[in-house]
Order: sequence, then structure tokens, then C-alpha cells
Amino acid sequence: MQKPYVFITRKLPDETLVELNQIAEVKMWPHEEEAVPRDVLLAEARKADGLLTMLSDNFDAELLQQASSLKVVANLAVGYDNIDIKTASNLGITVCNTPDVLTDSTADLAFSLILATARRIVESANYVKEGKWNSWGPLLLAGADVHHKTIGIVGMGRIGEAVARRAKGFDMKILYHNRNRKPEAEVSLNAEYKDFHELLKQSDFVVSLAPLTAETKGMFNREAFQSMKESAIFINVGRGAAVDESALIEALQNKTIAGAGLDVFEKEPIDPKHSLLMMKQVVALPHIGSASVETRMKMAELACRNIVNILNGKEPETPVT
Ligand code: DGY
Repeated sequence: MQKPYVFITRKLPDETLVELNQIAEVKMWPHEEEAVPRDVLLAEARKADGLLTMLSDNFDAELLQQASSLKVVANLAVGYDNIDIKTASNLGITVCNTPDVLTDSTADLAFSLILATARRIVESANYVKEGKWNSWGPLLLAGADVHHKTIGIVGMGRIGEAVARRAKGFDMKILYHNRNRKPEAEVSLNAEYKDFHELLKQSDFVVSLAPLTAETKGMFNREAFQSMKESAIFINVGRGAAVDESALIEALQNKTIAGAGLDVFEKEPIDPKHSLLMMKQVVALPHIGSASVETRMKMAELACRNIVNILNGKEPETPVT
């Protein structure tokens, strides 16, 4: 019997593919840092029974409708805004993501950005490497404290709660805003629910972990930044399109807010000449929220298990449709 065909859209370590290789004919795009061109993706999708995809691949209706034998799309991310879920579901294609295994690593990264931005870590490290350090100074590269401040978490899912746990260790006051209230987190983390504008007004650190949906698109707009404290630091580890970047640039230039730590952008990769990258109060990272070797291996293994299960007629571990 012919084995099902699976296409993987980026190079993954061979050891994560052992199980998948046993049950399927697997082809992998050979590059780690180069996206599959659209025409190749279309051609592969037309013949694939399963696809293992990256958050940077766009799986829209045009592509899904041509994938006549496709049964499963396993996205190597917890977010799945790159996939037209409604079309996939209408076509009977199961979409899976990789939640849980990346929660702590992504929360670590969010907290690193809080610390790096507040304590001017990148600027200070460059200062030393560029040979600018002549003498110790009382206020040389002095930043803002993180401990005992107020953190406002927008998007209190699993990663939001993990950020709150870290914030608790820093003796921070924890506010959150979410579609649904989280009574357990309110008790265990002493987190207070606030409406969006109240959270913005009261927080020293506003952390966006919001997934990209019709409701969250552009929610951090000019009005939102104007509600924040002048000393506030904005952190985004969710999705870039939750932010109106022109409003963020304006807020930083006019000192409406004090700084930003960004792992995600409206357009990725961000243009190296982008105004946000020209500001010293901005720490920018290349969407590495879950990028520890251990976590990426677990994500790849989970994505493969989801495909194996579907192709074997079993339930996937982490379906989103
Ligand atoms: C994801 O997996 O969706 C996040 O962006 C983690 O980086």
C-alpha cells in the first residue's frame, strides 16, 4: 500500500521525524531560514495528505481549496492565525497547534524582554562592546525597576498565567485583561481583572500576549498608548498585528510611553530600516518566544505525533478544529 505523503515546510532535526518517517513518505523543505515560495507550497499542498507548517506560512482559502487529499495541517506554534481555520474546517482538514510544551519558554522570553527593556540590557551590553565604558557613573545607563511594580497582562491564557507566576516572584502587582475572567488565577496569583483601559492606566508594564483575532487586531492603537503612563513599558510577545505600529512609533517618539520590548511585528521579518529599530528605548527580537532548543524539539515532536495520529485514523493530541 502506498504511504501517505507529508510535506514539512522548514528543515527540522531528523530525530524528531522518526515516527513520522515510519508511516509516511516525508519531504522536507531543506532550508532552516528560508520560507517555501508560494508556488512550491501550492504544488506540495496539492499532493499532500499532511503538512507540517510554520507560523510564517500563509495557509489561505486559495491554498486549502486546492489541497484535495489534505487531512491535517500541524502548525509549529501555539498561534494559528496564519491558517484559514474556517475553510479548513469546512473542508474537513484538521488543524493542530503546539500548546503547553512552549508555555514556560515563551513566558521566560516575555520576562526577559521586560527586564532587558527596563534595565537597558541591550544598550548596556553594546556600550561595553563598543568601547564606550570609561568610568563608573551614578546614573550611567540607569533604567527602571521591575520588582514591586504593576504588570498588566493582556491575554491571560496559559502563557499569560506563566508570566504572572514569574511576576509574583518579583513581588509585582498583577492586573490582567482577557475575554473571560480567570477566577482560579485571581486566587492563586492574586491577579486582578481590569477592563482594557483601566489596565493600561494602572500598569508600569503592559504585556500583550493576545492571539490575533478580529477583536484584537490593532487593539494597541493611539488611544491605547495615550491611556498608558509616561513611564510605561510596552511588551509584545503575542502577535504584531495586535499593534498599530505607527501609533506605537508616535507614542515612543513623543514620550507618551517610555519604551517597548517587541518579539513580534506587523510584518516579519521587520525591515532593518524600520523606525522602531532606530530607537534606543526599543528592544527588538526576531520572534523567538518559544526558541529554546528543548522546546522547539518538543514542538516538532508534538506536531509530528499529531500528523501520525490523524493519518493512523486516531484523535490528534492538540487539535484546534
Ligand atoms: C507561537 O508559537 O505562536 C508563539 O509566537 C511563540 O513564539
